[in-house]
Amino acid sequence: MCGIVGYIGKAAAPPILLHGLRRLEYRGYDSAGMAIIDGRQLLVSKAPGKVANLKEKSKCEWPAELFSQPSYGIAHTRWATHGPPTEANAHPHRDQSGEIALVHNGIIENYRSLRARLEAKGHVFLSETDTEVLAHLIGDRYEENLFQAVCDALHQVEGTFGIAVISSREPGLIITARRGSPIVLGIGDGETIIASDAAAILAHTQRVIYLDDNDIAIVKADHVEIRDLNNVPVNRAVAELELDASAAEKGGFAHFMLKEIHEQPESLRNAIRGRLDFALGSSVLSGMGTSPRELAEINRIVLVGCGTSLHSGLIGEYAFEDLADTPAEVQQAAEFRYRNPIIGRSDLVIAISQSGETADTLAAVREANQKGAFVMGLCNVVGSTIARETGRGIYLHAGPEISVASTKAFTCQVAVLLMMALKMGRSRRFSRQEGMDFARQIEAIPSLVAQVIAQNDHIARIAESYAANEHAFFIGRGPMYPVALEGALKLKEISYIHAEGYHAAELKHGPIALLEKGTPVIALANDIPGKDKTLGNIEECKARGARILGLITAGDEEAAAVMDDVIEIPACHPLVATIPSAVALQLFAYHIARIRGCEIDQPRNLAKSVTVE
Ligand code: M6R
Repeated sequence: MCGIVGYIGKAAAPPILLHGLRRLEYRGYDSAGMAIIDGRQLLVSKAPGKVANLKEKSKCEWPAELFSQPSYGIAHTRWATHGPPTEANAHPHRDQSGEIALVHNGIIENYRSLRARLEAKGHVFLSETDTEVLAHLIGDRYEENLFQAVCDALHQVEGTFGIAVISSREPGLIITARRGSPIVLGIGDGETIIASDAAAILAHTQRVIYLDDNDIAIVKADHVEIRDLNNVPVNRAVAELELDASAAEKGGFAHFMLKEIHEQPESLRNAIRGRLDFALGSSVLSGMGTSPRELAEINRIVLVGCGTSLHSGLIGEYAFEDLADTPAEVQQAAEFRYRNPIIGRSDLVIAISQSGETADTLAAVREANQKGAFVMGLCNVVGSTIARETGRGIYLHAGPEISVASTKAFTCQVAVLLMMALKMGRSRRFSRQEGMDFARQIEAIPSLVAQVIAQNDHIARIAESYAANEHAFFIGRGPMYPVALEGALKLKEISYIHAEGYHAAELKHGPIALLEKGTPVIALANDIPGKDKTLGNIEECKARGARILGLITAGDEEAAAVMDDVIEIPACHPLVATIPSAVALQLFAYHIARIRGCEIDQPRNLAKSVTVE
């Protein structure tokens, strides 16, 4: 949620902060603000809406020299939690004296009691946010040492934070700290960039330091010192970013989402490369860190995730049971720790997360660790909190995913889960030949996906005739059921069409009552076990006037005859077919949202990384 940027160095801070905010806008985009120290003066500018509004407003409010002469500062793009997205609620927030400015990502859970205490001492609050309370708390503890004041305040805080703080009384210094919300420091040549996400650092340096929970850093232009909240120095290694700045550009596509859909053959190739062992009929996933013997001791697999990552987990559930004869179940990460799950040493918990920062998934990881399970992370963002806390796991190598709607991370998650299932399958029931055959199926995924992307224009034409509907149903069976859920999620989040995913057999248990003439039903009717029954369910929908868009296996005339419109998916193993089918639904959702004129990369009310519960 929310994006944080800070800059201290030889250059003018405002253009750098604004550029960084643009890079982080996908994390939250309902209001933005920045604070800079110019000499000994603290200046704050804030605006509701996109970063572009802040750019315009700050240019009106601040003298032009501020955009070219050296200064330093902090900035924020917000995803509202406490209070609507107004200028007053936008960050940075100041303390009572007006000398301190603070940006914050996370939630101060005990802000009400802290606020009441401060109000009793005469503090006056200008916003509805929890963040302003933290700014005042720091100000309340501030005598002459900002670092100490921040430490003292953070000791009183319950909840999560990634923060950056400046004070006009101590020029040349930014204090930043984290607990539960990421903070990365970019170490440049005579400059330091602070960010909640490496995307804002890429343009400056590849050298970064990731703060751990309860780290607090004293950041100067040419020096960074990290301590814990008890003022004990800690050592954090400098890492090299493996991203290049062009990954954060649209590269000629109208939207990041379209670019990321088109990148999938390449991102899948990267996810698969070097991980298939055809001679052994297995996969090589060194990050799993388990020997065949350890794998054989796993009795159950529990997959946890949220949103799209939950849906890939549901496909994983089918894969582990089908290929590896291992009982598998998916649990919503948000429920996991509250239901006191029955988890033990012989269970493997796989936490799936593109960002590696999702609060609920992270909490599930901690709970599973607590219960002594084997815990693995399946993350895209290298160095993310979940990747680091799980210790063992597999990176997706999908490349940066900027669009809020997850596309390439989803297909890479499924590909990696299939490789994990293959590896486990080989340690259980798969013969070498069966393993080799399935490895060949996985190897073909990038080209299967390319064949679907080649139908982009056809899918765009189909979308024309569905874009005016306000409701849609997605149905599927077996591993195509989670694809139906994912197709519905994709459509609703970017086009605001009310879309529901159902198991094909479930419609007649209630939802069929909603069908009327012309209601779209998008049916995953691939030629996999159960297809005949799905075709039967489609007939039931047609009899009630529904309009059917079928995803069918290429050349399946029997299925084509039942549909009003058709997208052909190349023939392949049913588990593998989930990937090209999902890509077809991504394109379908994209074109519908485009036709409806929606803000595709930054849909209303959403944010890319959900770091609050
Ligand atoms: O970063 P994560 O994979 O943990 O994120 C989980 C969900 O927030 C995410 O998949 C969300 O549902 C996307 N907007 C879906 O497109």
